[in-house]
Amino acid sequence: MDKLIIFDTTLRDGEQAPGATLNEREKIEIAHQLVALGVDVIEAGFPISSKGDFNAVKCIASSVKGAVICGLARAMQKDIDAAYEATKMAKGGARIHVFLATSKIHMQYKLKKAEDEILRLAIESVRYAKKYTKDIEFSPEDASRTEPEFLFKVVEAVIREGATTVNIPDTVGYAIPEEYGRLIKRIKEEVPNIDRAVISVHCHNDLGLSVANSLTAVRNGARQVECTVNGIGERAGNASMEEIVMAIKTRSDLFPGVATAINTREIHKTSRLVSKLTGFVVAPNKAIVGLNAFRHESGIHQDGVLKKRQTYEIIAPEDVGFTGTGLVLGKHSGRHALEKRLAEMGIKLSEEEMRRAFEKFKELADKKKTIYEEDLASVVELDIHNFKEGWQLEDISYVSGMKVTPEAKVALRHKGKILKATSKGDGPVDACYKAIEKITKVKVKLLDYRIEAVTSGKDALGEVSIKISSDKKVMTGRGSSTDVIEASVKAYLNAINKLVSKSDSSHGLIL
Ligand code: KIV
Ligand code: ZN
Repeated sequence: MDKLIIFDTTLRDGEQAPGATLNEREKIEIAHQLVALGVDVIEAGFPISSKGDFNAVKCIASSVKGAVICGLARAMQKDIDAAYEATKMAKGGARIHVFLATSKIHMQYKLKKAEDEILRLAIESVRYAKKYTKDIEFSPEDASRTEPEFLFKVVEAVIREGATTVNIPDTVGYAIPEEYGRLIKRIKEEVPNIDRAVISVHCHNDLGLSVANSLTAVRNGARQVECTVNGIGERAGNASMEEIVMAIKTRSDLFPGVATAINTREIHKTSRLVSKLTGFVVAPNKAIVGLNAFRHESGIHQDGVLKKRQTYEIIAPEDVGFTGTGLVLGKHSGRHALEKRLAEMGIKLSEEEMRRAFEKFKELADKKKTIYEEDLASVVELDIHNFKEGWQLEDISYVSGMKVTPEAKVALRHKGKILKATSKGDGPVDACYKAIEKITKVKVKLLDYRIEAVTSGKDALGEVSIKISSDKKVMTGRGSSTDVIEASVKAYLNAINKLVSKSDSSHGLIL
């Protein structure tokens, strides 16, 4: 079997997605989950870019075992020094990833350098990185728009200097599959020392072709794919890890002898975690991890699936850890049934967390007839794992309508006291947020607000994700309820509690 190396860049290129800022604690949590998923390399950040990034990469390198930890660097000594310093503690190996643009447009307008100077910098940077580690990756940025002859020359030179992986980025998502596949094939055939390095691909999704391009590259000899969970990343994002992995597994007939080491059953959990922590909601129709990916609405399809699953399902939901297909529990279910169901979903809770989960489950069961696994996952994520001490919602009431100015009364519990305030606003959510501001005296700016139904039906649980900023700090918050105003208030309190809590106070800086 030829191993296809999965290089996950969720924490670097993924985090470059506008608005996807993660703090150090969140990055570490994702890195641990990436190891459980079985990725081979974690690109943990760009250490020179900020103190926060440097510290996060360093923390991941010293605490996350089970994958190679990689740091990104421009072709500059200070960047390479920082990447080395941040990754050197990695138990599973450290990688330095040097990049330098090689396309005419980048060299002329961005770098203002000629080909021979770029070639010299590429060689010198790899030579410099070699004094630190044997595991060096080199990326000729914008490779797909680079003159092939020059690209081959750079690739050959960096391999000669010791690069063990050569990455061929489609930086602006410009390539189309046949063309990109051909480029990889030519590199394999025309770069004399290519057998001494792994060919890697890194595709962006500007034309919606990042996964198709990556797969065509694998069919033409690439043996490392750079990708992100849920496909998050710069602009339209990066190639989606789950789509690549499942395409290779499902269509193994087209990838003979190629396999990844991914434990596909961890895919859904990883997707939810990344979505939760970045605040990037996964579209319901997203392949593999969308809520509707395994739902059959039409009668003909449902009938077919009941007769033989494969008639309309090419992937078994459980193979990607998607368990939320059936009815789970109702208001008469006891604590034991809840415990059993959570265990089946792979969720482990402490005694105290289970007590709270049961309390929340009962509250929800009073409002919602049928509780699905998605509901349970949301309750556990938002009310248990994401729970923050601080201001808690005691009560809300509001008036709103087309001919009245919306007004909300909010009561919060804080350190054993109940505090109340009333405020008008542009809508019921705005009125609630203003009332909360009066109580907490925490002034924030709302950067993003999203709402998503966890399940279908009129009594569906609504999940609200928000992003707020205050004094250069950005924080995400999430809340769920069958009442969207209540979910909005919970999300706001969650973000504020995170913002004021000590452990988070040094992170999430806007750069
Ligand atoms: O898209 C790109 O070219 C990159 C490089 C740093 C590999 O992200
Ligand atoms: Zn990129």
